[in-house]
Amino acid sequence: MVALHLSALLIAARCCWAAQPGSPSPVPAKLRDLQWGKLNFLHTTDTHGWLGGHLQEASYSADWGDYVSFVTQMRRKAESQDADLLVIDTGDRVEGNGLYDSSDPKGKYLYDILKQQDIDVMSSGNHELYKQNTSEAEFLTNVPNFQGSYLASNIDIYDPQSGKLVALGPRYKKFTTKNQAIRIVAFGFLFDFTGNYNNTKVQPVEETVREDWFQEAIRETEVDLFLVVGHVPLRSQEYQAVYNAVRRLHPDVPIQFFGGHLHVRDYARYDTKSSGLASGRFMETIGFLSIDNVKSSNPVFSRRYIDNNLFSYHHHAGLDEATFPTEHGKNVSRMIQEARHALDLDMVHGCAPRDLWVSRTPYPSSDSIYSWLENEVLPQSLRDPLRNNTPALAISNTGAIRFDIFKGPFTQDSIYNMSPFTSGFRYIKDVPLKTAKRLVWLLNRETKIFTESEHQNYCPLGPPEKCAHDLDIETRRYTPINSELKRREQIVLSPEVEQDPQVLPGYTTIDDAGNDGDDTIHSSISFYDVPNVLQTLIVPETTLSAKENTSTEPSTVDLVYVDFIEPYIALAAKFSGLHVELPRDSDVYMSGTSLTELILGWIKDNWRCDKTFI
Ligand SMILES: *[C@@H]1O[C@H](CO)[C@@H](O)[C@H](O)[C@H]1NC(C)=O
Ligand SMILES: *[C@@H]1O[C@H](CO)[C@@H](O)[C@H](O)[C@H]1NC(C)=O
Ligand SMILES: *[C@@H]1O[C@H](CO)[C@@H](O)[C@H](O)[C@H]1NC(C)=O
Ligand SMILES: *[C@@H]1O[C@H](CO)[C@@H](O)[C@H](O)[C@H]1NC(C)=O
Repeated sequence: MVALHLSALLIAARCCWAAQPGSPSPVPAKLRDLQWGKLNFLHTTDTHGWLGGHLQEASYSADWGDYVSFVTQMRRKAESQDADLLVIDTGDRVEGNGLYDSSDPKGKYLYDILKQQDIDVMSSGNHELYKQNTSEAEFLTNVPNFQGSYLASNIDIYDPQSGKLVALGPRYKKFTTKNQAIRIVAFGFLFDFTGNYNNTKVQPVEETVREDWFQEAIRETEVDLFLVVGHVPLRSQEYQAVYNAVRRLHPDVPIQFFGGHLHVRDYARYDTKSSGLASGRFMETIGFLSIDNVKSSNPVFSRRYIDNNLFSYHHHAGLDEATFPTEHGKNVSRMIQEARHALDLDMVHGCAPRDLWVSRTPYPSSDSIYSWLENEVLPQSLRDPLRNNTPALAISNTGAIRFDIFKGPFTQDSIYNMSPFTSGFRYIKDVPLKTAKRLVWLLNRETKIFTESEHQNYCPLGPPEKCAHDLDIETRRYTPINSELKRREQIVLSPEVEQDPQVLPGYTTIDDAGNDGDDTIHSSISFYDVPNVLQTLIVPETTLSAKENTSTEPSTVDLVYVDFIEPYIALAAKFSGLHVELPRDSDVYMSGTSLTELILGWIKDNWRCDKTFI
């Protein structure tokens, strides 16, 4: 196939004022200002390699180079007010974008680009630990790159050189801010994750807070603020444990939490002197938080979720196109551009005839990405020649699909945005269809067997956004510390706002401080829940004779599933009367083909680009 290139199609109309070539220009919008304090923070989380920004969404089109410029300009602004600014990142920097996933080795370009940002306190996410390579890159490259900033309060790693179990990074740090001399004790946590490869050890947070070093750290009396950063949901038992431990000794010292993992914008007020901020996902959001009068009996907190685009950056920095970018920031944008070019991320594989959504439309529906997989991709592509047309019930967890597909060019980049995972397929043969269906039903309904199992890691089967929704609306198990759980619903804006041409769809967040957190005034986007797993029954035509009633279902099937979910299949099998031991009784299906490759193959065969797309 002759490779088309997006950058050639969307000729870079503007060459030099940053963001990636081909990305849409931000749309001017109504903005809410930042409320500065003497202590201020900028926060990213769950960036998942999206350092090039969103090339198909104007609201999030700034790249990491622009963010480098933004931090520099915001530090200058802080300086001019004799205030402090701290920059935070709470992990899941890897997996989810071609800039990380498509190089060999993975991350070949990412770590150098990340390193260009001046981050004050950071932590690891779970995605840094799934694979040996990834956690070792963290230990050997990223931790040294961010020496003095990277904290690992509850993660150890087997040092690949010595073979010894060592801390991934320092457990905590004490420092004093430059301008206001605020004395801070900071920690960096990961939630009670159990899905890591065996070269790392994650200690449950509830145990870490009982360790001597932690107890000593919080016995510090010369402290104005405890800063708890972590790849941890804000309304979690883990942060509850940290909060309780600190508050037991310090009823009065402010505690500021930064969290992540659930891919949502959220702000929690735990008490009058503590709060927590979560800043979304995929470089869509830069979280801003300020605390004024930190040392007083009455600190004032303020939060804002900044849409990651140059319009917002210029506004908040009080600068314009000419004065905003720094030389360093522009260099970083260029590094990203060169990496994207080397990885051929603009190569077009086909053109999507319509938008396909993860959660913006109901499932099932013709615009649901999961319905598309169930009805078109899997039935037309999933077969193993060694299984000779045996009917199959195929299952994938919905979390395997991470991002929407937009109408138009589907690029090398789009593949990794949609599904960055390397999981292939396995199967169990001769499963009664009735049993297989019961098993799927269990995976979708019976969340209890998972919440009580050791595999419980915040709803591991669905996308994180679903998990946030489920925890919030349904289970209430991880409810907050002292605050009332506030159900975050979509705001319905008044009809005038909806009709204002300047108001575009986007985040409309409700959190513990109200509904004015987003910097950009948007109309709301619907959120529809999705199941844990999708399923599709594949009955090859040749297995039914012409005369046979085609709605007759086979009595037994190959139960085919994405290998990532084997532990959950094993668990659900137990409860559905399927007597198997896994992996012993399962085998590889379509050897050498991952779900992602299967989808890509289908797209190349089915989605041609014609003139209407160019
Ligand atoms: C893992 O690391 C090794 C050694 O650096 C490298 O050769 C290999 O390509 C890496 N694997 C992936 C999938 O990145
Ligand atoms: C980790 O698991 C591998 C198999 O995947 C095994 O060979 C190795 O011994 C294990 N290492 C440790 C430290 O348990
Ligand atoms: C930017 O890149 C140029 C050319 O590579 C280099 O000479 C310069 O030192 C860089 N400047 C900064 C601030 O990174
Ligand atoms: C085909 O089988 C289904 C279910 O067994 C039955 O409901 C339906 O009436 C049958 N149709 C015909 C045309 O025999």
